[in-house]
Amino acid sequence: MWTLYVGIFIALVWILDYFLLDRRQYQLVKKLNSAPRLPLIGQAWVVAGTKPNQMYELCIKLYEKYNQKFPNILCTYIGNKLEIGLSNYKYVERILTSTKFNAKSSLYSFLGDVLGNGLLFSSNQKWFERRRIITPTFHFKILSQFFEVFQKQSQNLCNELEDVADGRTFDITPYINMTVLKSLCETAMGCEINEKDYSYLNAVKELSYHVATSFLTPWHRIKFIFNLTPTKRAQDKCAKIIHDFTTKLIEERRKLLIKSGESQDLTDLDNDEIGLKRKMCLLDVLLQSTSNGKPLTNDDIREEVDTFTFAGHDTTTIATCFTLYMISKHVDVQQKLNNEIEEILGKDEVTFKSLSEFKYLDMVIKETLRLYPPVPIISRRLHEEDDFGDFVAPGNANYNIALFALLKDSTIFERPDEFIPERFMGNISPFGFIPFSAGQRNCIGQKFAMINIKTTIINILRNFEIIPGFIEPKIEFHITLKSNGSFIALQKKIK
Ligand code: HEM
Ligand SMILES: *[C@@H]1O[C@H](CO)[C@@H](O)[C@H](O)[C@H]1NC(C)=O
Ligand SMILES: *[C@@H]1O[C@H](CO)[C@@H](O)[C@H](O)[C@H]1NC(C)=O
Repeated sequence: MWTLYVGIFIALVWILDYFLLDRRQYQLVKKLNSAPRLPLIGQAWVVAGTKPNQMYELCIKLYEKYNQKFPNILCTYIGNKLEIGLSNYKYVERILTSTKFNAKSSLYSFLGDVLGNGLLFSSNQKWFERRRIITPTFHFKILSQFFEVFQKQSQNLCNELEDVADGRTFDITPYINMTVLKSLCETAMGCEINEKDYSYLNAVKELSYHVATSFLTPWHRIKFIFNLTPTKRAQDKCAKIIHDFTTKLIEERRKLLIKSGESQDLTDLDNDEIGLKRKMCLLDVLLQSTSNGKPLTNDDIREEVDTFTFAGHDTTTIATCFTLYMISKHVDVQQKLNNEIEEILGKDEVTFKSLSEFKYLDMVIKETLRLYPPVPIISRRLHEEDDFGDFVAPGNANYNIALFALLKDSTIFERPDEFIPERFMGNISPFGFIPFSAGQRNCIGQKFAMINIKTTIINILRNFEIIPGFIEPKIEFHITLKSNGSFIALQKKIK
């Protein structure tokens, strides 16, 4: 009797699978690389049970195992949803330069639900409009004001670091993460933040953990089931903390703007006066902008401001911490950096103008971003299929670009695992080195981030000798690259 039941069960699964699977898409997938697919669950079995901290190893393992027909591209069905992982230079360029791939992958909706559809998550017309509004915030003249904030915060940081600069190993992450957050708040929202706002930082951090968990849990993709999970409850708690924090700031700033009474015209950026009268910040730009003739609402603004702090703070923290970590490990690199500082600055303070002369420092940061990309994966959605030449890319699929793998591609970077800043003196293929992504949806904060990181590193190097710590970091892989710390030691320099 039971054989009959089993038989009926198998038939049912088979029939259901037949109706749920997109046949055309599956035909295309079969021509590409993939692991064996089971009815209904697809290849979910290869990712099920993976913790966020194991994702890095899993990606590399899958790549090695199933990469037969085309290099560095792999299809996986999670249920009947198609995910395509890739890190092939040629295909990455194709995706990042094609307008067909403007939309972010459906995976981002986990975040979008919490943060709102700010610049990072929106697509099409809304994205285009917002990008137009926000771009002036990163104008050269405004960046030069932001530099003043970075400089002030770096100097505060150096004062704080004196307490721990006794040659003993410590974790510098909490120092850097507060400095970055303070700089971000002041430049994005025009306010100074203090220690008691740690809860905001922690909410942002916890949120990325929950979202990474959902990426890897197939049934979280079914909304009504997800809404019943503890992850959803925890995520909502973080969201509330984040929303309350930003909403308060927006309301304060609106009041301040009304009180000060003057409204600056941002459209005329060639005007030397711009931003010089009063410190400009992202929030002011947004408060004074219009979309289709209407001013942005508090919710529109909150969505952009939250996206900003979310996109800016973790990434910059990781980049700064790992640059310090790499400098601590390479005595020769530190010596060259010190020489560069001496040559360019002598006894003077660093200025916005002199920052662009730090060519070696620039290479050191780039090489760190290559080995420790703060954003290891980016993801796009393709709605309708697209002919790549070598194969037809299936539609209705997420395309997950493994930046961490691309940045270690040995056909682009010789001896890819080694730390060699000088490699950036040569020509690197434009789509080979893309820690900030590329194309029209590249990182809008790239210059902002580089200026911030450089200012911090220069100030630390002027005050301290950086010594290797005794503890190696453990690297994890949430939405951003995570590590359990950045362990270095400092010794105060005698001036
Ligand atoms: C080292 C630091 C940083 C790295 C490595 C980095 C990396 C990236 C990457 C890879 C993307 C593309 C994401 C995707 O396609 O899904 C991106 C987008 C973005 N980044 Fe950054 N980022 C950094 C710092 C910042 C900072 C400081 C800000 C804000 C001040 C920022 C704001 C944004 C925004 C708003 C987007 C979305 C742009 C759009 O879609 O139009 N980022 N970033
Ligand atoms: C910043 O550092 C503090 C202190 O170590 C830590 O508790 C917090 O989780 C860190 N936040 C982020 C976002 O990394
Ligand atoms: C971080 O992880 C490394 C490697 O597993 C370990 O040796 C170290 O003790 C950890 N450090 C902390 C502070 O947890």
